[in-house]
Formats: sequence, C-alpha cells, structure tokens
Amino acid sequence: MALFNNLQAPKPFVKWAGGKRQLLKQLIFFAPTKFNRYFEPFVGGGALFFKLMPSTAVISDANCELINAYKVIRDNVEELIESLKRHKNEEGYFYKIRALNPNQLSPVERASRFIFLNKTCFNGLYRENSKGEFNVPFGKYKKPKICDENNLRAVSKFLNSIDLEILHADYKEVCSLPKRGDFVYLDPPYIPVSKTANFTTYLSSGFSEEEHKVLASVFKELDKRGCFVMLSNADHPLIRELYKDYKIIELTTNRAINCVGNKRKGAGKELLIINY
Ligand SMILES: C[S@@+](CC[C@H](N)C(=O)[O-])C[C@H]1O[C@@H](n2cnc3c(N)ncnc32)[C@H](O)[C@@H]1O
Repeated sequence: MALFNNLQAPKPFVKWAGGKRQLLKQLIFFAPTKFNRYFEPFVGGGALFFKLMPSTAVISDANCELINAYKVIRDNVEELIESLKRHKNEEGYFYKIRALNPNQLSPVERASRFIFLNKTCFNGLYRENSKGEFNVPFGKYKKPKICDENNLRAVSKFLNSIDLEILHADYKEVCSLPKRGDFVYLDPPYIPVSKTANFTTYLSSGFSEEEHKVLASVFKELDKRGCFVMLSNADHPLIRELYKDYKIIELTTNRAINCVGNKRKGAGKELLIINY
C-alpha cells in the first residue's frame, strides 16, 4: 500500500489475551476475498483488522480503556508518545500508576496509563476486580517496550487513512449495524475448555455460557441479513452444537489460552465458524 512506503505496517499496540497473531495466516485464508465494510465487535488488539487493513470499518469493544487508547492514537499520537516516554519500569511506580482512577485523567493520560500497564504487568493481561479496578500485578520484565513509537505512528496513520468508526459498545448493539455484503469477524472471550483455562473474565461482567448462546443467535441473524460472518472460539461441545448448521473449521495452534505456565504448550484446538 503506497501510503505506508516509509512506515512499517501497523500491528496491535497492546498484548491481548486471545490475540490472534499466531492464527493470522489461517484467518486470512478463510476470510472472504471481497466484502463491503469490515466489522470487528470484539476488537481487542485487532490483529486481523491490522492485517486486513480494510478501507471502511467499524471496530468496537466493551473495554473502555482500550477504546479510549484507539481514539487517542488516532487523534493525538504525538502527545501520547511523549507521555509514554516518561513512564518507568519500576514496581513501586507501577502500583502508583495502577492506583490512579482513569476517570480522573485526560484521554491522553488515560491511554498512556493503559498502555504502560499493559506492557509492564504480568503477561499483558487485562483483569478487573468486582469494583471494575485493574488488578493485574507487576510483570517484572527486564526491558519491556513501553513506547513503540514507530508502531504507534503507523497505527495512527492507518486509523486516519480509512473510513473508520471506533465505538465503546456491547457487541449486540454493534451487530445491528452490518448490512448485506459486510464482513463481521466475531472473536469473543473463549468458552473455557477446562477449569483453569478461564479467560472469560476480561471485564468485571465476564462472558457466560448463556452469552455464548445469545452470540450464536446474533450470528444467525447476521447470516440471514446476508453478511459474511466468521467466528473464533475454543473447541468445545457447546460451540459445535450451537454452530452445527455452519461450516466448522479446526485450526491448528499451540497457543496459550491457559495462564498456568506449565500447561502452556498444546493448549488445544480452536474452531473457526463461517457462513459462506
Ligand atoms: C478474544 S478477545 C479479542 C481478541 C482480538 N481479536 C485480538 O486479536 O486481540 C475478546 C474481546 O472481547 C471484549 N468483550 C468482552 N465482552 C464483550 C461484550 N459483551 N461486547 C463487546 N466486547 C466484549 C473483551 O474486552 C476483549 O477485548
């Protein structure tokens, strides 16, 4: 793409649980080759969004810190970079920044706090307590890249170069927008495949089994409307049952969907469901 001749290609600016970077080749292979608008209602780190680089898109997530960061990178990347450069990878400092109330910060300070915590906390996780406060401990990394300015500028340039809406919203609301010919990629928090493999608590509200059933009805509705729909999830009997009328593809991965260190390898199969 000519626009990016002197810039690196944009890539996710946060480390995100369930990020799709390792599965990208397979996702691209199964994505439709032609579509109108691109929708990603569980955008997270946006691995597929940055890879596809669609010219018209709606990206959204229920995590308001994440969505604020996307908007700040689009609108105010230089101020954000300056702020990120001031952070220190020290334990005491980390807990001081973690204790700040994001609602009392400016959008730039808020995005800077969010990215700093993401780069320096344990495993780049995002977890909140019942009061909605971020509670992941310090990660003790030697040299985390808190400010990847080249990538932040590449992301900013890309976000400004396309027809884009960035929304803080529940997926159900956003899924009412796509029309015939649009492509919707649904990548919800996965259904847990074992007691320890539980990454459904991205937000204090969580994503229950009941919610996976609701999501399956949203998938059906998008299908009826004539959208191209692609959904990722873990290989679980409930998911196979919910999507039995569609194409179910097994993806090969040795990705960690389990946070327990010694169980990281061979984390299990993942499924891709498509309606086209
Ligand atoms: C598996 S992650 C998406 C990963 C993303 N595809 C990537 O490449 O990084 C799931 C995302 O869903 C978001 N989420 C959870 N519940 C949601 C809801 N009800 N509506 C919208 N987003 C939600 C989480 O904040 C998280 O970012």
